[in-house]
Amino acid sequence: MAQLRALRRVASVLTTPLAPEDFLRLVNPLASTRQLRGLVTQVVPETADSATIRFRPGKGWNAHEAGQWARIGVEIDGIRQWRSYSLSAPAGADPAITVTAIGHVSTALVRNTKPGDVLFLDVPQGDFVLPRHPRPLLMLTAGSGLTPVMSMIRTLIPRRPDADVVLIHSSRTRADALFHDELLELADQFPGLTVKHWFTREEQGRRLDLTDFADLETLCPDWQARAAYACGPAEFLDAATALWEGGAHDGESNLTIERFAPVLLPGAGGEGGRVTFEKSDKEIEVDGDVPLLEAGEECGVVMPSGCRMGICRSCLTPLVAGRVRDLRTGEVHGDEGELIQTCVNAAAGPVHLDI
Ligand SMILES: Cc1cc2nc3c(=O)[nH]c(=O)nc-3n(C[C@H](O)[C@H](O)[C@H](O)COP(=O)(O)OP(=O)(O)OC[C@H]3O[C@@H](n4cnc5c(N)ncnc54)[C@H](O)[C@@H]3O)c2cc1C
Ligand code: FES
Repeated sequence: MAQLRALRRVASVLTTPLAPEDFLRLVNPLASTRQLRGLVTQVVPETADSATIRFRPGKGWNAHEAGQWARIGVEIDGIRQWRSYSLSAPAGADPAITVTAIGHVSTALVRNTKPGDVLFLDVPQGDFVLPRHPRPLLMLTAGSGLTPVMSMIRTLIPRRPDADVVLIHSSRTRADALFHDELLELADQFPGLTVKHWFTREEQGRRLDLTDFADLETLCPDWQARAAYACGPAEFLDAATALWEGGAHDGESNLTIERFAPVLLPGAGGEGGRVTFEKSDKEIEVDGDVPLLEAGEECGVVMPSGCRMGICRSCLTPLVAGRVRDLRTGEVHGDEGELIQTCVNAAAGPVHLDI
């Protein structure tokens, strides 16, 4: 601490007109009192479209629980963009995210990140975590939905001889399957893990059918006796939810799910309108199903955001005038000064936002 104070004193003498903070950042890129950061230590390609990015977080980071996620910020063309990523590293290890390139930010992360880069961070959060007491588990994942479950498996399997986990993972092909070889090695080494890969474009040649029990019964005959966790695309999770809710198991529903995108009411968008971003002096005409967050980004407004699915509230922006529609429920609302979750609300007529 005394050393840091001394370095600050030297920095303040040496760095005019730079602030001491700027100089310290050159010495230690994680030094910032304003924004939590992480230094990228390794980038490991996983498949043709995905990579694991390991980073060393700065002061202020909380150790993650297996299955949690964090907001990650990255500068793209001078604009800081935020997205959420599950932490794929085991609990207790330095964090890592495994990103699949599907859009603007994920593609930049997968293709351009290199060791030494600095990421902006928010602390881990989320309640898609392992049960407090040991139980037989069924993990049902598809595509990039494997990432939080991989953290759980890496945490649980090597440490708990009594673990009993069945993983059913669906991907298009073997080459697309995240962590394919590591999972098979873990299953070979530890009797507590059984891995069933399902390839929709190879061996099985069709989607895993969750509209009835047949596929599950074949892959994991005692599936109803297990606490189940599912993560994957929306339709995969919708089908799993319906199967479990439909009384396909005894007793209360024992399915926990994690979504990467919001559940929107089909056809929730109505009349759109002109959205005015007052402080940014920008405006745009949008349809009624376009979230205000995307409308702002479309016309170059630096919009705060995080999960982009209505859970983290990082996107709250004051309404100056107008009405908005919640795309999850269809409800139209809006009082002057109300904080609007721009990621899940759209214009319902002309809207003015205080940003
Ligand atoms: C809690 C949480 C955890 C997440 N964990 C991961 C993770 O571990 N790895 C990862 O790659 N992504 C993860 N995501 C998704 C991630 O936050 C971004 O949404 C994703 O990278 C797309 O961002 P983009 O800017 O590249 O795409 P955009 O240009 O923003 O648009 C992509 C579109 O695809 C939708 N979308 C988001 N995720 C998926 C998906 N997996 N499959 C299909 N469509 C999707 C978005 O809703 C959006 O409409 C997670 C999201 C949440 C909320
Ligand atoms: S970005 Fe998380 S609630 Fe809107």
